[in-house]
Parts: sequence; structure tokens; C-alpha cells
Amino acid sequence: MDRIRISGGNELRGTIPISGAKNAALPLMIASLLTSDTLTLENVPHLADVEQLLRILGNHGVDVAVNGRRERQEEGYSRTINFTCRTIVDTTAPYDLVSKMRASFWVIGPLLAREGRARVSLPGGCAIGTRPVDLFLDGLQALGAILDVDGGYVTATAPKGGLVGGHYSFPKVSVGATHVMMMAATLANGTTVIENAAREPEIVDLAKCLIAMGAKISGAGTKTITVEGVTSLSGARHRVLPDRIETGTYAMAVAMTGGDVLLEGTDGALLESALDTLRLAGAEITQTETGLRVVRNGNGIQPVDITTEPFPGFPTDLQAQFMALMTRSSGVSHITETIFENRFMHVQELARLGARISLSGQMARVEGVGRLTGAPVMATDLRASVSLVIAGLAAEGETMVNRVYHLDRGFERLEEKLTRCGAVVERVSE
Ligand code: EPZ
Repeated sequence: MDRIRISGGNELRGTIPISGAKNAALPLMIASLLTSDTLTLENVPHLADVEQLLRILGNHGVDVAVNGRRERQEEGYSRTINFTCRTIVDTTAPYDLVSKMRASFWVIGPLLAREGRARVSLPGGCAIGTRPVDLFLDGLQALGAILDVDGGYVTATAPKGGLVGGHYSFPKVSVGATHVMMMAATLANGTTVIENAAREPEIVDLAKCLIAMGAKISGAGTKTITVEGVTSLSGARHRVLPDRIETGTYAMAVAMTGGDVLLEGTDGALLESALDTLRLAGAEITQTETGLRVVRNGNGIQPVDITTEPFPGFPTDLQAQFMALMTRSSGVSHITETIFENRFMHVQELARLGARISLSGQMARVEGVGRLTGAPVMATDLRASVSLVIAGLAAEGETMVNRVYHLDRGFERLEEKLTRCGAVVERVSE
């Protein structure tokens, strides 16, 4: 199993290209199930989660062609991929595929909309919380779906003549359930109104792509999305938006180590709340024509309290990274997690590096320390793992991050991007 060895202490200086967003690419790829034409996606990141979804889509009959031309010269960076699903050959998404990645459950929407039926394994437990699927089921029921949960599978059937437009107000904001309802509603008969919808930039990106495919959607990015059903969708060409979580992660890394880095090809408007917080912590951040420039000013790291919230609030996917930064602040900060009930696994690992953090329910109290010291660490989810990398970059001595496959799920060429900016980071394969 691969590990990442970090020798901490260096500032970061240089340019880091920001990849296409994992959490936009996944639903966009799933949208290819809605049409028999070719959907071309540019800027698809080269990540383990994307590869896993390619296998799942292949199982349903999607033909995948990766374009020869690399967007950047180096092998392995974001690619342009054609997805063509002439016919859906299987409406079942089996346990052994779905259990590896929660987002694969989202195929239920397009399969049901296009074929009138879907049998999809429940995604199962996840390290960051129970993550149920009740909101998906309630939303699809509002479109007329008949549902049955049995033997670990959800079987969904559309009424004769297909799904029907409906009205649903989410009792809690869910990114995945909003994606699924929006996709399902595109081919329903009549108009669907989705209230208390998620407003994440990835929702807007999916809506843009669906509109390019012929869908009639308005309001994406606001709390109310309206979808007027059409009889069929066509192919389209769409570029995946930049990854705001990768952007925020590297911005926090620079705030941690000091230095001066251009995050190339990204847009600060995608993560304003996180950038505002980082500014309060002491980073100087400016949007340039080519990306975001992040510089750590000379005043050290200031303590800042945060609470995670659905977009446009501070994203849960940057909570662990921000906590890593706060371990070196000059005071006490409080970090409250409101989205997932078990997203503090990094706390005990950060403590192995010398951090002083105490937990009380959903709130962490982080007392900044003068120094962190390297140690072997591991984490059980993607963002927790990268928080350990950030801490390792500032720790004295060597930090070995185990279970690197978590990082490979969501960070394209992490060690290469950091090394180019002066960090001492290497992958150790065994
Ligand atoms: C998406 O997950 C992201 N994943 C997550 O990123 C992200 O943390 C999360 O949104 C919140 O921003 C992708 O986009 C692929 P939710 P999703 O449904 O859609 C509860 C990462 O590291 N809920 O918005 O699964 C749920 O338990 C990942 O890249 C229900 O109760 O998240 C959670 O508490 C991890 N019932 C809250 O809603 C449901 O039916 C928000 O979850 C669905 C969700």
C-alpha cells in the first residue's frame, strides 16, 4: 500500500494547477445516462473515484472514449472524455460497485427517468457518518416513483408513461439528492419544483450541462429549482468547473507553511466564505487573470472560529484542512461541524503531531501550538488525509501518511503539485 513521506519545514512557492472538480465530474458523468447521444466532458480529473464511476457506468452500457489529446502535456492530468449510452443494458447497480463510492447511488435518477426502472444497492455505511438516503427516496416519490427497499437494494419504478412533475421541499439540504431529483425531473412529464435545494457550484455546473443537453431548468444556485420536463435530451460538450475544495486545500497549505503560490485556473468566487476565513487567519489572497494568488503575510496565523454549513457557508470538505491550519495559530479557535456527525477522525491523528485539540460533541477546541513534530499518521477519509499532509508540511521532521488511497480518490497528483512548489513530499510504494 502506498504511503506519503513528508519532510516538513519548507515554504511553498510557485504555481499549482487546479484540476476539474471531482464533485462536479461525478454527477456530470452520471448525466450521460440520460441521453443516447454523446456527452463530452472536458477537464475530467484523473482520480480513483472517477475511474470507479467509469466502471459503474460501463456496467449500465455507457461507452467511454478518452480523447487522445491531454489537456496538459503530462500523463495523468485532467482529460476530455466522451460518454455514449446508446441503450441502457442493465438497470441494476450492484452492491460490489455501489458500496465503494456513495455517489454511485445517484445513477438511480437517470436510470429511472430514462428506463422507468432502477435497482440500486444502498450505498452502505461511510466513515464520516450514517449518510442515509431518505431524502432521495422522498424526492423521487414526489415524481411518482414507486419504491421498495429490500435485501439492501432500492427498487424504483416509474408510473406508466414515465415520471411526473412534482413539488418537493427538502427538509434538509442535500447535494446528492438535489442532483438526483434535478436529473430525474428533466425527463418527467410536466414541471417539477425543488425547494430548499442545495446551492453548491457543482449543482449549477450540472444544471448548465443539462441545459446544454436540452433540459429546461431555472433557478439552479438558488433555493428553488424549477425543471420543465422534456421528452428527450441530446448530447453536449461541457467543461467541468475548477475544484473549489482542491483550491481551498492548497490555499490553506500556503497559509500554513508561508510562501507565495498561484493556484492556476481557479476562481475565488467558488469559495468566498473559505477565502474570507483564510484572510482573517492571515493569508493575503488576490484573484488574478490566471488564478488565485495566495501569500502568507508576516503576522503568523490568527485563530478564527468556523461552523460548517451548506453553500455558500464554510464547506465541510475544508473543515479538516482548516483545523490543521488552526493547530499552529497564535490562540484558541472553535470548529463546529454541522453537516456530518462523525467528521473529526483527523483530530486524534493531528494530536500525534503535537496538536492540542479537545472535542465536545460537534465542536472542536483547537489551541494553537508553537511547533508540530513529524510522526506516522493515517486517516479514514479523503479530506482528513489531506489535513494530515498540510500539518506534515509544517511539522518538524518526517511525517508518514499511511493509506494514501484516500488521497488518490480526490487529489490529482498531490505530491507532484506540492513538490513543484518546494515541498519535500514523496510517495513510497511497497
Ligand atoms: C456531497 O455529498 C459531496 N460528495 C461531499 O463531498 C460533501 O461533503 C457533501 O456533499 C456536503 O457538501 C459529492 O459531491 C460526490 P449531502 P452528499 O447529501 O451529496 C444528510 C468529499 O470529501 N442526508 O449533501 O452525499 C447526510 O447524512 C465528499 O468530496 C440525509 O440525512 O452529501 C448529511 O448529514 C464527502 N438523507 C447531509 O444530509 C439523505 O437522503 C448532507 O449530505 C441524504 C443526505
